[in-house]
Amino acid sequence: MRKIILYIAASLDGYIARPDDSIDWLEDKAYAIEGEDYGYSEFVQTIDTTLMGNSTYEAILSFEKPFPLPTETNFVFSRSAGHTDTAQVKFISTDAVAFAQELKQQPGKAIWLMGGGQLNTLFLNAGLIDEIILTYIPRVLGAGIPLFAAGAQETKLHVSSSQHYPNGFVQVRLYK
Ligand SMILES: NC(=O)c1ccc[n+]([C@@H]2O[C@H](COP(=O)([O-])OP(=O)(O)OC[C@H]3O[C@@H](n4cnc5c(N)ncnc54)[C@H](OP(=O)(O)O)[C@@H]3O)[C@@H](O)[C@H]2O)c1
Repeated sequence: MRKIILYIAASLDGYIARPDDSIDWLEDKAYAIEGEDYGYSEFVQTIDTTLMGNSTYEAILSFEKPFPLPTETNFVFSRSAGHTDTAQVKFISTDAVAFAQELKQQPGKAIWLMGGGQLNTLFLNAGLIDEIILTYIPRVLGAGIPLFAAGAQETKLHVSSSQHYPNGFVQVRLYK
């Protein structure tokens, strides 16, 4: 069965974006390490599908850059049925948990749960997250959009590995 992997970065106080959705703090040039992508390109080789909430999709569009994964199958979850699919994404407004359960049964590579916090909580509570690759950024934001939205159930995970980088980033790999 295919795995669903949450690959995401968070501030030290557990936020994935500022209250206004900005992620400038993730891209602070002061953190840059020449040639280091924190395992991103290796990770992307293992997936062929992404899942995201509509707010994450809208945040990606607001960056006004080419869609990051144009060749993968990208699903955007929305409670509203009025969206039009694009060349890059398909909108899903049927039951998100049932959709993901069905997707896991299909042949293919791993599935990247991109976030954000609402989708993470929905999938966590449904027991659908098989692994988490979480990169902590050594910065307290003080406010923002949490990694898991309100209503996340207490869930015990196991750490398979952790790695720290010279810029202070700490990447933790967890599994169910
Ligand atoms: N730091 C990182 O690595 C990282 C990664 C990913 C995202 N982010 C950030 O996270 C923020 C977005 O997170 P978020 O928690 O606000 O929102 P989100 O989880 O990305 O999306 C929320 C939206 O998903 C849809 N949704 C939620 N529950 C649903 C359900 N049960 N069934 C169907 N659709 C459902 C709804 O869309 P409708 O309103 O259309 O119904 C809802 O408004 C953005 O700022 C983004 O930049 C950061």
